[in-house]
Amino acid sequence: MSERAYQRCIQPTCGGTLAVDDTRFTCPRCGGLVDVVYDWSRLTVPDSLRFFESRWSERYDPLSWSGVWRFRELLPFAEPRWVMTIGEGQTILQRADGLCSYVDLSRGCLFLQYEGMNPSGSFKDNGMTAAFTHARLVGAQRAACASTGNTSASLAVFCSATGLMRAIIFIGSGKIAYGKLAQALDHGALTIQITGDFDDAMQRVQQVSRQLGIYLVNSINPFRLEGQKTIMYRVLEGLRWEVPDWVIVPGGNLGNVSAFGKAFYELRQLGLISRLPRLAVINATGANTLYQLYEQQGVRWQGGAWPRQQVERFFAEMQAHHRRASTIASAIEINHPVNLPKALRALEWCNGVVREVTDQEILDAKAQVGAHGLGCEPASAASVAGLKRLRQEGIVGQEERVVCVLTGHQLKDPTATVAYHSTDPQMFEEVLGKRGVRRPTFANRAVQVPNDLNEIIKAIELYA
Ligand code: F0G
Repeated sequence: MSERAYQRCIQPTCGGTLAVDDTRFTCPRCGGLVDVVYDWSRLTVPDSLRFFESRWSERYDPLSWSGVWRFRELLPFAEPRWVMTIGEGQTILQRADGLCSYVDLSRGCLFLQYEGMNPSGSFKDNGMTAAFTHARLVGAQRAACASTGNTSASLAVFCSATGLMRAIIFIGSGKIAYGKLAQALDHGALTIQITGDFDDAMQRVQQVSRQLGIYLVNSINPFRLEGQKTIMYRVLEGLRWEVPDWVIVPGGNLGNVSAFGKAFYELRQLGLISRLPRLAVINATGANTLYQLYEQQGVRWQGGAWPRQQVERFFAEMQAHHRRASTIASAIEINHPVNLPKALRALEWCNGVVREVTDQEILDAKAQVGAHGLGCEPASAASVAGLKRLRQEGIVGQEERVVCVLTGHQLKDPTATVAYHSTDPQMFEEVLGKRGVRRPTFANRAVQVPNDLNEIIKAIELYA
């Protein structure tokens, strides 16, 4: 391939390639995952990350306003004229001193990268703008995804905002939080609810897209991950271009961890950073494929020589025992992460670790995040719960600088939040108790008061 950007199999020994405008998104030789790769020698790349500060004075230009495209020199797969942006990526890296005692870090060491501020309320918009740019380049008219709710919300928002494509969404029955389902419906997406869960929907959407030639926007699409790299560019920007010691992220389909690893690997390759942070991926215990493979079975990327048969045996056994993912963090309720090999590679590049956390730990961490100012959905709080564990184990040092990614907004899943804080034991049991959550440790209960001035004043004096 002589192009400046093309797609290439991630297996170093395979060498399969696809042109930049190919929408198969799998290696034509071995069927594996592909990356978007660049011939940097034929592209103009800034010699310092500080170059991007010049974009702050050009915020009238949608390309410089976008938190994704103001880093366009680092994802140069399309000419700027193809870019489809809806103002994604206006997110914040917030120093979170209030949470430090909960996770046992020194003050000033913890930062939360809050992706809930995106137009559709989750980090997915970072990837969707890149996928839409690519879809426009190839002239796609219909786009599909399987989703636990946020990819579909993002697709629906982008379709309705740009008019570029028709959205077709596959979701598992009863597996999607209400805030996310509301978005798919409100933004006019064709919403197909199949009997089964996300893993079933993911298989189907791949078949259907292939058969009908529909553009696939799941994170198996490598252009999605190009957009998600920018989450890490913004983290660096928030830290004055200094590399943190740790980046901690929830793991579901493993797109984010794969994108983050690639972002840092490329930055070092380009001489724009001198070291990589360590990565920690946090699974829910009810959806812990990566944890089991990486931490319990010792599966490693090994420069591409990962033990494929061992992984296949793991999935065959899962299938034989009909093991299904189950967690209150429905966004990461996934047993078959499509980006598994890429995640293993990112963990190798970034000397990573993987942990699992229970639904109880997730909800307690979520309540603590909320009590200190940012609202996130359950899956997002897995990063903070995971950090707490890594501190207890001494893997993360007390003085290390840590960034936890809060992937989605609090209002995505009001049911989980209300059940946790609820005074209604039946609701608690129905939503959380059956998942093994025993105590709402940080519940902030509504106070029931008769409609009487004295009683109301008494309650206020008692509680505030
Ligand atoms: N956090 C949130 C809020 C998510 O929606 C997802 C994934 C993840 C974390 C996990 O990220 O897949 O990159 O490891 N949601 C997908 C969806 C699967 O369909 O919306 P990942």
